[in-house]
Amino acid sequence: PVDVKCADGLCGVCKCTLVAGEVEHRDFVLSAAQRETTVILCQSRAAKAGGVLKLDI
Ligand code: FES
Repeated sequence: PVDVKCADGLCGVCKCTLVAGEVEHRDFVLSAAQRETTVILCQSRAAKAGGVLKLDI
């Protein structure tokens, strides 16, 4: 389970560590540097259809 508060990509509560994979970031809270290593789970997704993200949750 993942804790969620806003579910709109605004608060950052659902942030987790990205281990591997290419992400389409759809949040409004992460900096460009943060996007290299973290993902906002309530809004972001794999960059390509059928893509796989490995996360440390
Ligand atoms: S729950 Fe707020 S950013 Fe995901």
